[in-house]
Amino acid sequence: MKMRFSVTCLPFLTSLVSTSSLPPSQYIFSNPAPDVQKSYRIPTIHESAIQARRILHLETIGTLSTIFPSSSSPFIAENRPADVSGAPIGLMDYFGDCEPDTGNPTILAISIATSFKNVAAGSNITLSLRWHPPFSHFKPPRHISAASLPRFSLVGHLEDLNEAEVKSQDVAKCFVKYHPDAAAWLPGNKIHESKWARLVVKEVYWIGGFGDRAYIGWIPLEEWKSVTKDEVEKCRLPGETKKGWNSWWSVFREDSEENSAWEL
Ligand SMILES: *[C@@H]1O[C@H](CO)[C@@H](O)[C@H](O)[C@H]1NC(C)=O
Repeated sequence: MKMRFSVTCLPFLTSLVSTSSLPPSQYIFSNPAPDVQKSYRIPTIHESAIQARRILHLETIGTLSTIFPSSSSPFIAENRPADVSGAPIGLMDYFGDCEPDTGNPTILAISIATSFKNVAAGSNITLSLRWHPPFSHFKPPRHISAASLPRFSLVGHLEDLNEAEVKSQDVAKCFVKYHPDAAAWLPGNKIHESKWARLVVKEVYWIGGFGDRAYIGWIPLEEWKSVTKDEVEKCRLPGETKKGWNSWWSVFREDSEENSAWEL
């Protein structure tokens, strides 16, 4: 496999593996010690931050984790058992990369949804996401170990967007571009109370893939925030074509615009 060196996140392309080229098992879930002879160049923390920001930009769905409050307030409508107090729960939700200057994901918080009830009761929140590569673009087509692909968690808290921010940042437009179906539950809709929020990122935990060729560990907040639009655009994730930006993704987007009638 050819080694590549670049200031963008391109070297990560070398980390595409088939199941026949798994790393030694001790380096699957952690990085080798600094003195171990390595056959791959492990991306730097900044390169890993660029990959993470590109994933945030291209992915649309993740898992929100919150903690059930210890309060005994009854949630009769949902039959909530008393003993879940203090337990974490992870639930699928939509997000949008609508504040690219900071990398704080935008979330449409529905008041009656468990994640946001927990937040209202004082819970912090974590968004976990992973890269879903366009497998059909792997040449030649082959099976990729999901454990070799990047995933990460953004740990923080929720903060409401004020009216001026919602307007000036065109948040609804950005979010609906990612999630056309969400047009049905934007703030002000007649069915569910909802509001715009940002997940204020405090910590970033990153697993770039197998530990012998990808960084596994925390990414300092300054690295996360300092990633530029240009770096995100130039970066290519596993399975992306050279054309990259708007290549396979725009095909998907155009398709979703054609099928504008969403079944809800
Ligand atoms: C939320 O996270 C902050 C750190 O960012 C921490 O100080 C605080 O105790 C956490 N709140 C709860 C309810 O766990």
